[in-house]
Amino acid sequence: MDSGSAISLSLFVRVLLTSAAAAALNLEGELFADLMRDYNKNIRPKENSNDVTQVTIKMTLTNLISLNEKEEALTTNVWIELQWCDYRLRWDQPPRSHLYGNITSDLRVPSKSIWLPDIILENNVDGQFEVALYCNALVSPNGCVYWLPPAIYRSACPITVNYFPFDWQNCTMVFRSQTYSANEIEMVLKEEDNQTMEWVFIEPQAFTENGEWVIRHRPAKKVINAQHSKDELDYQEVIFFLVIQRKPLFYIINIIVPCVLFSSLSLLVYFLPAKAGGQKCTMSIINLLGQTVFLFLIAKKVPETSESVPLIGKYLMFVMSVTTMVVMNCVIVLNISLRTPNTHMMSDKVRKIFLNILPRLLRMQMRPWTPSGDSSPATTNGGPLAKDGNGVFMVPCRRRSSMALIAKAEEYIVKTSRSELMFARLRERNGLMKSVFEKLHDGLDVGTAEQLGASLAKASPELKQCVASCKHIAETAKQQSTFQNENEEWFLLARVIDRVCFIVMASVFFIGTIGIFLMGHFNQPPSSPFLGDPKMYLPTNNMTDVQG
Ligand SMILES: *[C@@H]1O[C@H](CO)[C@@H](O)[C@H](O)[C@H]1NC(C)=O
Ligand SMILES: *[C@@H]1O[C@H](CO)[C@@H](O)[C@H](O)[C@H]1NC(C)=O
Ligand SMILES: *[C@@H]1O[C@H](CO)[C@@H](O)[C@H](O)[C@H]1NC(C)=O
Ligand SMILES: *[C@@H]1O[C@H](CO)[C@@H](O)[C@H](O)[C@H]1NC(C)=O
Repeated sequence: MDSGSAISLSLFVRVLLTSAAAAALNLEGELFADLMRDYNKNIRPKENSNDVTQVTIKMTLTNLISLNEKEEALTTNVWIELQWCDYRLRWDQPPRSHLYGNITSDLRVPSKSIWLPDIILENNVDGQFEVALYCNALVSPNGCVYWLPPAIYRSACPITVNYFPFDWQNCTMVFRSQTYSANEIEMVLKEEDNQTMEWVFIEPQAFTENGEWVIRHRPAKKVINAQHSKDELDYQEVIFFLVIQRKPLFYIINIIVPCVLFSSLSLLVYFLPAKAGGQKCTMSIINLLGQTVFLFLIAKKVPETSESVPLIGKYLMFVMSVTTMVVMNCVIVLNISLRTPNTHMMSDKVRKIFLNILPRLLRMQMRPWTPSGDSSPATTNGGPLAKDGNGVFMVPCRRRSSMALIAKAEEYIVKTSRSELMFARLRERNGLMKSVFEKLHDGLDVGTAEQLGASLAKASPELKQCVASCKHIAETAKQQSTFQNENEEWFLLARVIDRVCFIVMASVFFIGTIGIFLMGHFNQPPSSPFLGDPKMYLPTNNMTDVQG
């Protein structure tokens, strides 16, 4: 045999093999052509007159993409698994089984060329009712169709904003047949391992965790709305629930912590001295403006509803009222601290409460005011400064009054005529003063200033004028000191009010802050997906399925 005939033989064998393969391929093609012959995809598979097509449904969640609070829309990436049987597509029974009996594997059929149960997402928000991709359906020899199209759904999810950002949401995805009533198709949840899959299926390998939300419950339910008749489309629906809880860390870091820190600064205003009243007001008003910025940030995030106020909004309102009260407080304290005895009178009752009782209660570092008989300037006449009734500002006042004394003495010298001064000098030169001092040495009464003045006047009539001037100086100094004292009293009063308000505001601020965030902390989703139903709606055995 020559090589030419060998080549032609191998060529013949190859052609034979390929034609066999083509025959197998052609068999599937023939089957498909056969199945599609006289097939009307608009007609429901109804073998007998009152047949109801059963459609099983299962939802696999691969990604919870986002929840848009503002638009109240939940975006999910899912696979919708639908199964039903279409008697027109089966080939395991005569007469088709004679021709295609050798085809035992599933036949891939374009889903657009066969009947579909028309099940859609009822509560979508973007008019996208259908699946994302009309992929092929698998048809098994007994005519049952398995269709697993992927979909990205945007479903409506009413947001409960009350506890934002410590909230959890109860979102639903409602599936219904758009055209077929319960008399025509029956929607049921898929059964696997003898269990109805009353949950949203999550495959751990395929699932992408969301950064903001954690899934707490994911039950599924077939709901019969008995108020509708069976002919209505609303009668039956399959609802997939997603109870999701927010991971609040993002908001804690970005809004809550800065807000708390910022607001606590407004309490520092109380540590500015009462004299810096203007700065106090500026600081607290700047604080108020800062809080408004946070309020805007939150208003951008939550839906524009007037039905409820988010927790963080409540907190900001609270903090803003505290800061407003601080501003008001600053203004009042500024008013009080700048009062003078010429414009305002302070009653003893106020003195007793604010300069005696409160400082002692608050353990403030100041000498408490003590009521005494000679405290009023009208009754005292020229008593020594050390015996001053209030005796609160002993040291600074004496320093101030000695300055005043010098001023008064200068004034006296200017007023007194030059000749008089000359004579005074003359007398001094003549040893007059000496004799006076000698005289005084014997019988000088050094009891009080009054007595001293009297005895000095007795000693020499020339000294009388001098004593009178001294008296005048002392009285003026005394008056000035009383004035100063009362001025300082207003300052002290302002300081006490500041301290009282600081304690009140600080406690209100801390109790409010802790209270509001504890409220958020205790807002956990219920332990079971449906209120009053302890069933967990999760697989009971250990399937390859995770929670959350
Ligand atoms: C099925 O295959 C067997 C051999 O594998 C063959 O004998 C039989 O004729 C085939 N039947 C049909 C209907 O093609
Ligand atoms: C399902 O239940 C039937 C009987 O009720 C039993 O024969 C079958 O083994 C069960 N299947 C599984 C996977 O548990
Ligand atoms: C979620 O909403 C459904 C009704 O839409 C309700 O029956 C269910 O109890 C809710 N789940 C929770 C945890 O509140
Ligand atoms: C989970 O199932 C496997 C067999 O599928 C079994 O060996 C194992 O004990 C089960 N674990 C639990 C906790 O039920």
